[in-house]
Amino acid sequence: MMLSKSILELLACPTCNNPQLQVGSARRPALVCEQCDQAFPIVDGIIDMTPSERNPAPGSYRTETLFNLIAGIYDLVAPLMSMGVWRCDPLRYVDMSNQALGRGNKGVVVAAPIGTGMPLDRVLAPYHDLTLIGVDQSWKMLRKAKSRFAASGEKVQLIRADFQQLPFRDGVVDSLISFHGLHTFADRTKTLREFGRCLRADGFMTGAALVRGQEGVADTLLDRYERYGVYPLLRTAEFLTRELREGPFQEVRFSTYGAVMFYSALRNGLEQAHIEDAS
Ligand SMILES: C[S@@+](CC[C@H](N)C(=O)[O-])C[C@H]1O[C@@H](n2cnc3c(N)ncnc32)[C@H](O)[C@@H]1O
Ligand SMILES: [Zn+2]
Repeated sequence: MMLSKSILELLACPTCNNPQLQVGSARRPALVCEQCDQAFPIVDGIIDMTPSERNPAPGSYRTETLFNLIAGIYDLVAPLMSMGVWRCDPLRYVDMSNQALGRGNKGVVVAAPIGTGMPLDRVLAPYHDLTLIGVDQSWKMLRKAKSRFAASGEKVQLIRADFQQLPFRDGVVDSLISFHGLHTFADRTKTLREFGRCLRADGFMTGAALVRGQEGVADTLLDRYERYGVYPLLRTAEFLTRELREGPFQEVRFSTYGAVMFYSALRNGLEQAHIEDAS
């Protein structure tokens, strides 16, 4: 599979931030960072940009394993859970996707997490002038997304990466969609800072997350999730919005439908200079 030049121009090494990645010359396709001597294999068109010698951060490994396990039933279960437990019409995601793609304004849209590619496959057709990149750390989710987009004929570049170390250059993303991301992130603050780094000033971010304090049945299940260590701390909509505002975002808006909080925000207009990792 040929990697388009336009995609290569958006990428940087997730370890050393070197923007000059080369297409490798070895037999197996790969992107190579000559600065830190890493090769990122391209497997079935999916670029694996997880740092090769990374020790999995505590927590993220469990998340990855979990999603590899549930990828097979995710498309069946997610809409049922959405209606029956979280009490949110799945069509809301379609609306939000359209909004996020529209804000991409013929530029670069990143879906992080892309999951299995739902519901983007259904709404992408009119946005043929966008560059769409889907990121996830779960191979199984990515493979599902791959066959979904192959079936719908949509062109989406899939990348395996950790959201805490995204393989993008600073400020290259116009719009970022994060459906059911926030509540699964091991370190939300760090991840939001990383999303902010990749977005251009005034870039658009939208997403959905499960929150507590809205629905009785949902709360009971979310309490269990937390007790069994499925997801990190799950908070209320107000708490999450505060976190967004404290991060590199402004004009934070949200509304809740059942236990699902939909939010949108703009990357604030500060200098795009590398945002220092304060942790
Ligand atoms: C609940 S799924 C959501 C999928 C899809 N966006 C949707 O709404 O159906 C959460 C996804 O986030 C991914 N994920 C969670 N934490 C991640 C991280 N730190 N880096 C990369 N992917 C992550 C998981 O692999 C999983 O596929
Ligand atoms: Zn590097």
